[in-house]
Amino acid sequence: MKRRNFLKNSTIGTAAMLSTPMLAAAAMPEGMKSKVPPTVKSRRPIVICTWDFHNASEKAWSVLKEGGSALDAVEQGVMVEESDADNQTVGLGGRPDRDGNVTLDACIMDRDGNCGAVLCLQNIVHPISVARKVMEATPHVMLAGKGAEQFAYEMGFKKTILLTEKSKQEWLEWKKTSLYKPIINIENHDTIGMLAIDRNGDIAGGCTTSGMAYKMAGRVGDSPIIGAGLFVDNEVGGATATGVGEEVVRTVGSFLIVELMRQGKSPQEACEEGVRRIIAKNGDKLDFQIGFIAINKEGETGGYCIQPGFTYRTYSEEGHVNNPSASHLK
Ligand code: GLY
Repeated sequence: MKRRNFLKNSTIGTAAMLSTPMLAAAAMPEGMKSKVPPTVKSRRPIVICTWDFHNASEKAWSVLKEGGSALDAVEQGVMVEESDADNQTVGLGGRPDRDGNVTLDACIMDRDGNCGAVLCLQNIVHPISVARKVMEATPHVMLAGKGAEQFAYEMGFKKTILLTEKSKQEWLEWKKTSLYKPIINIENHDTIGMLAIDRNGDIAGGCTTSGMAYKMAGRVGDSPIIGAGLFVDNEVGGATATGVGEEVVRTVGSFLIVELMRQGKSPQEACEEGVRRIIAKNGDKLDFQIGFIAINKEGETGGYCIQPGFTYRTYSEEGHVNNPSASHLK
């Protein structure tokens, strides 16, 4: 059953079926409404992504420039990294868990608040596209493990061995000591999170990762968790995260940042507050990296992280830029 049909027939369907953010906003109690007027349109198409994923952002930009939707832009953008065998943090070629299995997490969210996610998915190169299928072709938001894999085959995705020789050799080397000691920024979880605004001013986001290298079997981070690794509200903006997922989940980081923007903070201020919340929970023990990026409805962007070294790409008519993020530690 199509997701929309399912919702139409359910009691929660009425609110969810309001087809535009303006209608949805009209149905909200006064105190919950955004301070950003729902009629404000983005000034331009723009794409923003974590880290220096220039090929991915370039692909997303080409979709936007041709008049494509933000949803298509983020899906096709992050797919570039998923199919890049040299990228050991996303998709094909990702570093495996401690048992040698590459398990992938991804989620996607559209302008209407629809979302889909896959967790611990094996043998499929494009988890972002399976997440989109979950969103569009099922009444669910998340599918995990074997169920997600089976669903992917039913949707026509083909089975692919994701463990490359390079990642396998590194894993075999790691097994000699089995020490789990991630190195900040270059360790293992340079997740790609991407947000885009299309010509219509609509926002969408996607996030995809192979997660921490040599993680426990079954471990899932923030990246496929809506609200943690990614959140989009078409009235307000979007946010996404990279870094140690457990810390992002504890603060529901991306949802927090979007809500802070709703209350009037700029994307930069909201990302800084998102990082501060994580710091507040960890005291002096900041031996890990978190990076947040955010965009608001007007196309303003921001990024902030704990450790120096995080960058994020923006691509708009103004150019294709790798922005060094400000950081809490210097
Ligand atoms: N942020 C990616 C992960 O922790 O898996």
